[in-house]
Amino acid sequence: MNNIMDAPFVTEMRRTTANMYRLGWDERNGGNISRLLDENEVAGYLDMNQVLRELPLGFEAKPLAGRLFIVTGSGKYFKNVEDDPETNLGVIRVGADGRTAQLLWGYQDGGRPTSELPAHLMSHMARLGVDPENRVVMHCHPTHTLAMNFVHELDEKKLTHTLWEMCTECIVVFPDGVGVLPWMLCGTNEIGAATAEKLKAFRLVVWGMHGIYGAGKTMDETFGLIETVEKAAQIYMLTAHLPRLNTIQDREMKELAEFFGVNYRKDFLNL
Ligand code: 13P
Ligand code: ZN
Repeated sequence: MNNIMDAPFVTEMRRTTANMYRLGWDERNGGNISRLLDENEVAGYLDMNQVLRELPLGFEAKPLAGRLFIVTGSGKYFKNVEDDPETNLGVIRVGADGRTAQLLWGYQDGGRPTSELPAHLMSHMARLGVDPENRVVMHCHPTHTLAMNFVHELDEKKLTHTLWEMCTECIVVFPDGVGVLPWMLCGTNEIGAATAEKLKAFRLVVWGMHGIYGAGKTMDETFGLIETVEKAAQIYMLTAHLPRLNTIQDREMKELAEFFGVNYRKDFLNL
């Protein structure tokens, strides 16, 4: 058996959480990541027959029965993942009944997966229905995105339009726009179901006055989506209180989307 500390999926989580922490997106235990794993990715590193603990999910995830995920731990600090992945991360398998998580590795201090596991697993189910290649769900609290939530209308069309206006490449990176949920109690099945519903149409969902969710095929794609929104939000927050002398026009955004061949939310432009 190979040492799981050398597994690419552990290295990827260590590097990503460190990067997100460094960018200020994940204060204290803020944020969580789940990444779907193929059985053959894990096989050389873990004994699949050795279940360390069984954890009740508190919701039903039958379509994910047997699927494996590496998930950040609840209450764990992103800044600590790099040095101690075995305490701060876990590999879980969804049980055959879709109602339990079988712990195969990690959470070695008795911990458990993120409190946002309902949102993560429900989002994986929703995204896999849209894109069978989807593997990553990421949640964090990026500073400028969050700041923008307090001064900008929390309306999907208006928020997406403002973000698209802030960087030339925004409409190309997230042509599907940004979904928005109002403030809701986090860690619940309700916010999980609402997030998953939004992720059928978007790869990004803002949780009003809380943070953001991103979903993608790879860690890079998902990280890049959130990074691009955060950059646009930063430019908005740096300029919103100043007289606007120039702006990217809607016809120019249309030109961009057509040139790069992306399927964009035409109803989010005012043409
Ligand atoms: P966890 O520590 O349980 O992952 O919660 C962090 C968070 O961001 C809640 O929304
Ligand atoms: Zn959060």
